[in-house]
Amino acid sequence: MYLTREEERIYNGEYGWAYQISMKILVKLGDLYGADRLIPIESAHISGVAYKTIGDAPIEFLRALADSGGRATVKATTNPSSINLENQLFTHLPKEVIENQGEILTLYERMGLETTLTCTPYYLERPKSGSHLSWAESSAVIYANSLLNAWTNREGGPSALASALIGKTPNYGLHRLENRHASVLVRVEMRLKSEADYGALGVYLGEILRDRIPVICGLRKREEHCLKQLGAAMATSGMTPMFYLRENDKGGKSVEEKISVDERSIKISYERLTSAFDKPDLIFIGCPHCSPEELRIIADYLKGKKVRDDIKLWICTSRYARKIAEEHVEAIEASGGRVICDTCAVITWLKELGVETLVTNSAKTAHYAPLTNKVRTALLSLEECIGIACKGMEI
Ligand code: F3S
Repeated sequence: MYLTREEERIYNGEYGWAYQISMKILVKLGDLYGADRLIPIESAHISGVAYKTIGDAPIEFLRALADSGGRATVKATTNPSSINLENQLFTHLPKEVIENQGEILTLYERMGLETTLTCTPYYLERPKSGSHLSWAESSAVIYANSLLNAWTNREGGPSALASALIGKTPNYGLHRLENRHASVLVRVEMRLKSEADYGALGVYLGEILRDRIPVICGLRKREEHCLKQLGAAMATSGMTPMFYLRENDKGGKSVEEKISVDERSIKISYERLTSAFDKPDLIFIGCPHCSPEELRIIADYLKGKKVRDDIKLWICTSRYARKIAEEHVEAIEASGGRVICDTCAVITWLKELGVETLVTNSAKTAHYAPLTNKVRTALLSLEECIGIACKGMEI
């Protein structure tokens, strides 16, 4: 891979170890995937923040980066952590856990990252169309590529952090136009009714597509929160980094494969993502984190209702969305729901919070929560979730 003289100086350690190791990570990746050079990025988004998922191992590496002067040279935001440090709910977790999570955040802050602690950085600041990014949150990557026309590979935490420090990324994969073509045509031959249906479709497609890019036609409802669920779910069960939407299947001649999806396919996903139980301990909405508009929708559903005492209702979002949608947050909390920032039900410790069973409208959570938290889950629409939280329903 070609390096400018300045990049070579960084590579040789003239600017210190933090920049040298970051440059080495990027060059290694670039050589591995056939990049010809480094290109500037508009922003980086870093995963590897939640102590529950990363554990102790990376803390020493982060400390070494911060101690040797590593600082972000472009806008850099962070994924959620395992705890909302300001929320009473989490204060009874072990002291050591709280301290370690706090240290991770302090280290990122010392490196000049914005500890935004959200998986939806695109609500805080929308990347420019055509801009190159280095983002490491699969749901945000697929959203940026597909719905914002920003260009990013699906980075890991270390490579996104390296890009944050260097301000560049290797020019391979989705940074090149020739790699952004769809190779599969998906015809959706059924009517999807809710965001949970979109998630179930996403899980089904992700498994079939693996890392291939589809063009999806036949989706009548194209609300942003539904497409967000579709993308997040596709990137959960597969490695698909982007999708295209079309009204019809005209012009699909160049694709390698055509797939039709009907009600049976969606039913398979629902069955896989749902286990039987009497009553959920937790209704969880906000994976990926809710937008201000979703907070409004939830507040509307809750109007005139009260959440049951024996069921928790969590709505996870960013601090930004919580502030923007303050009046809806107040309405949700007045009904007995909790609007929680900085974390989510997948990456915190649910059993320690008394949760064994969970109902969600997110296929991504229904896929991951049984793995990360050993809870039983069910996937239902937002409307059904709120119905259960307030009245109780048979699952
Ligand atoms: Fe975000 Fe947690 Fe889902 S980090 S994408 S809400 S698993």
